[in-house]
Amino acid sequence: MVDAARHPKVEILSYSEVERVDGYIGNFLVGVAQKPRYVIADQCTGCGDCARVCPIEIPNAFEMGLAPRKAIDVPHGQAVPLVYTIDMDHCIQCFKCVTACGHRDAIDFSQEAQYSELDVGAIIVATGFESFDPTVIPEYGYGVYPNVITAMELERLDNSAGPTVGRLVRPSDGREPASMAIIQCVGSRDKRYNEYCSGFCCMYAIKNAILMKQMIPSMEISIFYMDIRTPSKGYEEFYNQARKMGIRFIHGRPSQITQDPVTHNLFVEAEDQELGQVLELETDLVVLSAAAIPRADAADVSTKLTLSRSPGGFFMEYHPKLRPVDSPTDGIFLAGAAQGPKDIPASVSQGSAAAARAARVLSSDTWEIEPIIASVDPDVCVSAKGIKCGLCVPACPYGAISCVTGEAAHVTSAKCHGCGGCVAECPHSAISQHHFTDVQIVAQLRELLRDNPEEKILAFMCHWCSSAGADMAGTSHFEYPADSRGIRVMCSARMDQDFVLEAFRRGAGMVLLSGCHPQDCHYITGQQVAAKRFDRLQDQIQRLGISPERFRIEWISAAEGEKYARVITEMSETLKGLDREQILSENRGARDAIERRLRRWKASPQMAELMAVGADELPGGEELDR
Ligand code: FES
Repeated sequence: MVDAARHPKVEILSYSEVERVDGYIGNFLVGVAQKPRYVIADQCTGCGDCARVCPIEIPNAFEMGLAPRKAIDVPHGQAVPLVYTIDMDHCIQCFKCVTACGHRDAIDFSQEAQYSELDVGAIIVATGFESFDPTVIPEYGYGVYPNVITAMELERLDNSAGPTVGRLVRPSDGREPASMAIIQCVGSRDKRYNEYCSGFCCMYAIKNAILMKQMIPSMEISIFYMDIRTPSKGYEEFYNQARKMGIRFIHGRPSQITQDPVTHNLFVEAEDQELGQVLELETDLVVLSAAAIPRADAADVSTKLTLSRSPGGFFMEYHPKLRPVDSPTDGIFLAGAAQGPKDIPASVSQGSAAAARAARVLSSDTWEIEPIIASVDPDVCVSAKGIKCGLCVPACPYGAISCVTGEAAHVTSAKCHGCGGCVAECPHSAISQHHFTDVQIVAQLRELLRDNPEEKILAFMCHWCSSAGADMAGTSHFEYPADSRGIRVMCSARMDQDFVLEAFRRGAGMVLLSGCHPQDCHYITGQQVAAKRFDRLQDQIQRLGISPERFRIEWISAAEGEKYARVITEMSETLKGLDREQILSENRGARDAIERRLRRWKASPQMAELMAVGADELPGGEELDR
């Protein structure tokens, strides 16, 4: 931290908050509000004379509330920068600190917040995690029984710079505990709170147990666990060392903790799954290994930076295997526990990786983007004609589209990732996606359904998952019937409802829409937008009189070649079981309504030509009157 503060090219803006982020890779504009410290940073020497005379004491958050701090203070002794800050929520304005500061004149009660804007090329998000609050688990008595503490509180009690100068004592009576029980997975791997594993709790629990055993060899230490997870280098050996030292591992999650009201000793009830016995363990101190959870302001940060979040609430990486430190927004990178719970070695590795990824951006004069971006035809966009539309704006998960009534919608090319969601949402066909235009997709559709369409399954597949799943089916030699034909788009978000209707108008026997599983979509919310659209489409198709079994939606990952083959096989069997005359008659019955709906396409001469159906390619072979 000190090296960073001294580095000529590093500027630390502490006690500050990011208010807004605009722009794109290589060209971000970040608005930062610096809160007033009421202390002039350049004049404060960090001597602490002010804090010594301050009469106000409040709980010290760094010490987990186990020690007090003053209304003027620094977060902790090694804080960088070492500049005191007045907490105005508690300051009584006695001005004793002003007097104590004397000739240095560092206290300034007139300070105000300052707003600045920074031009930056890349952003690294390293906002860390918070600890789960165990008070919501009433059976453990945290916050009620003084001798039930969290692992973070134990860390402070055990720290030589902590409130007890490294002496472990019971909060109830200040005596050294003779026994201690550590409970794992508090708030994690528990469907009531957080389903995920916090990853590093096993190792810190073992570390704390070993440290306590070294400090007080006679202490009886028990660890209650569901599974001990020690996957890294040297970790299993560390676990074995703990066992050899006499630390007891009990396989079972405690169901209840009670307290002796006189001695404040605790009774932990659990089932020892190894022995198949219910046990009650009396102990002096209980330590809860609380889950790592996302920071309380994660939703706010994700909105400002256009980041997506995984189901657990942590920021989501672009791709868990191929781009694990990139966020889905180019130029923004993730480091440490902001992306998910991780221990110190993993956080350091990811921080270094994020720095290297950001350096790539900063050292480049130009940056290449994918050519599959969207663009708006200003002559078609109704917003340009003063009509309020703007449907494309919320459809873009990257905030790449802006729309002001009276002007055509505008796509910032550098922010567009080419999912095509806005194209499918635009009801006026004013947006197109390069290389995946309506004309290109409808042309493919027409050719694929040219012969005997009622015997074909037309499958729309997203590039990243279901198309790769189809490839996987092929390379894995999974057999499936030959009556399917595929059209690949980048994301299921690009799958326009009208493509499906056009397929039925052209006489398709069946249509499959397939994309990634919800968390796997490469375009943040693309799959979710598509799923909602497909739900609406299911109703429409039924209203058109098309049998529901002729339209299927499946989420298929790149690894699920077997699933792709199975889905196509099932659809093929369903299709063969359907009456051909019924298919033809359903298609005929729906045609007029579909044509009315697709009128907008015909405004484009190219589309009108593509949509014209020759007598030889009519569903059922009959004449069309047009
Ligand atoms: Fe596959 Fe979005 S990339 S559904």
